[in-house]
Amino acid sequence: MKTEIIKINNPAESYRDIERAAGIIRAGGLVVFPTETVYGLGGNGTDPAAASKIYAAKSRPSDNPLILHIAKPSGAERYAVTNEHYYKLAEAFMPGPLTIILSKKPVVPDRVTGGLPTVALRCPSHPVAHALIEAAGLPIAAPSANISGRPSPTSARYAIEDMDGRVDMIIDGGDCEIGLESTIIALDGDGALLLRPGAVTYDALCCVLEKVEISAAAMGEMTADDRPLAPGMKYRHYAPSSPLVLLEGSDEDFINYIKQKRSIENCAVICSPVEAKALGGENLVLTGEAGDYPTQARRLFSALREADKLGCGVIYARKPPADGLGLALYNRLVRAASHMVIKI
Ligand code: TXA
Ligand code: MG
Repeated sequence: MKTEIIKINNPAESYRDIERAAGIIRAGGLVVFPTETVYGLGGNGTDPAAASKIYAAKSRPSDNPLILHIAKPSGAERYAVTNEHYYKLAEAFMPGPLTIILSKKPVVPDRVTGGLPTVALRCPSHPVAHALIEAAGLPIAAPSANISGRPSPTSARYAIEDMDGRVDMIIDGGDCEIGLESTIIALDGDGALLLRPGAVTYDALCCVLEKVEISAAAMGEMTADDRPLAPGMKYRHYAPSSPLVLLEGSDEDFINYIKQKRSIENCAVICSPVEAKALGGENLVLTGEAGDYPTQARRLFSALREADKLGCGVIYARKPPADGLGLALYNRLVRAASHMVIKI
């Protein structure tokens, strides 16, 4: 398939292109588009055939459900059974990087929800994503626009790497501001369960809802007999092809450990600019400074892709503290590392 690649920075100035992209979605085709979290691989969320095309383009198992992207929070009424908690969260965090899971209405195809009785809804704040959903006049079903098992794309370059030839159009809207996928919270009855940590942090959710539980998967934990609540959690994710190992220890121990390892093996290191200066030499991939979670988040997936391209036998990164946005970083890293954490 020939993929058309177009650049849109300001949707108001690219009205025709947005209309064309929306036309592709309405006609059952696939369009990759930017969001504030990561790039999405979008199709008509009311059409089972479009959902099948999405699974095929990603090489994704079809029991792993898709998120429906809507233009405004009240758009949820058509597709899900909303409640008071939904509107409280929507008022605080929508549009933005939060996905809410509710009981679905029959209009949502089973193919989109992987047969689940629930549906995931998100209202992105990115102007291009918003304009595209409005113009399509439909909910857009969209997983992250990576081939299944690879890191989510945070710039058009990576979306093109994975999706060129697999979709009708890719919209290049620059780099994603957040860089990690949305926070996912499931609401049922009175309860709220955090399934995937993201830029809307656990603490922020607790400011709005009285009680929020954190699932084991969100904490980065995983046991063999765990039935994952977000089916995507059971698949190996964000995985570079060289093994990734997380190191837990002080700044000094980290520098010493890497120096020693470098003398005996060819390794890539994901580290902060300060650490890179202390280490010097090759095969260093930069992330944000220690404690600068927003920069670390923005760079994480590109760092994993770039580290992988160095073709070293192993990639090392530091284990982030699991607080605030650090929990989301930890959750992605520990799964990319298949839980390989070394205390140094
Ligand atoms: O930021 C994001 O959420 C990005 C952008 C494109 O919006 N999308 C994204 O989609 O990350 P995806 O498909 O890569 O991840 C969605 C996750 C999957 O782990 C899936 O299993 C889970 O959401 N999910 C979707 N519907 C669900 C449902 N009804 N119940 C539980 N988990 C669900
Ligand atoms: Mg994904």
